[in-house]
Amino acid sequence: MPPGAVAGGIAVVIDVLRASTTIATALAHGATRVRPVTGIDEARSVAAALGSGGLLGGERGGVRIAGFDLGNSPLEYTCDRIAGRPLVITTTNGTAALAACRSAREVLVGAVVNATAVAVAVRHLAAATGATDAHLVCAGTDGSSSGEDLLGAGAILAAAAAAGSDDVLDDTARAARVEFDRVLAAADPRGTLVAEFRRAPGGANLVALGMEADLVACAARDSIGAVPRLEPATGWLVEMVPAGESG
Ligand code: MLT
Repeated sequence: MPPGAVAGGIAVVIDVLRASTTIATALAHGATRVRPVTGIDEARSVAAALGSGGLLGGERGGVRIAGFDLGNSPLEYTCDRIAGRPLVITTTNGTAALAACRSAREVLVGAVVNATAVAVAVRHLAAATGATDAHLVCAGTDGSSSGEDLLGAGAILAAAAAAGSDDVLDDTARAARVEFDRVLAAADPRGTLVAEFRRAPGGANLVALGMEADLVACAARDSIGAVPRLEPATGWLVEMVPAGESG
């Protein structure tokens, strides 16, 4: 992504396998807040400053980092483990994509699991802030775009269209919509999504590591209502309060 590409707009960071899905799951299951960081040492020192209540999660190569409490599987982030606790997380691509979006006016985290909630949140933030551009930032895998993130973007765009949005889409966004509509038209959309995930390099890596169940979890469309939103002043992600429920 060119520097400044998202400046002043609304950025939705999408890393379907698995950082976005895991961060949304952590907040949905009661994490008080989530701090995405790019480096392992930085993650350790931010978590250490939190004392015993903080949890440290993340992966390299898909595998939990030595000494960390949790890896990057959404299935690990159960209410039992995470409720009432702050989480510091570092992942290979997802947290780096979040760091690259700091010039945006608003930064949200989107995935297939919270696609409709994200589409609603973007519309609300655009109305509240006057921002006219929304950027669906696909984290990709090791610098290359990845099919599962394009499908995540397509899921958010399909949800926006279902809510009556008349957004103007660029070519990539249109392609994402077409891809996701193809999945939706299949006899078993969730199974078709999982099959697409399995074909992507990140998905194939997870299958090789014995974490195929994560693909199924990451394909559970709209299973989560939580929308992680970055607090620019603190660098923490918190659950966005739905419009009309604040105060
Ligand atoms: C990432 O940030 O690269 C991913 O979330 C990788 C993974 O979950 O294994």
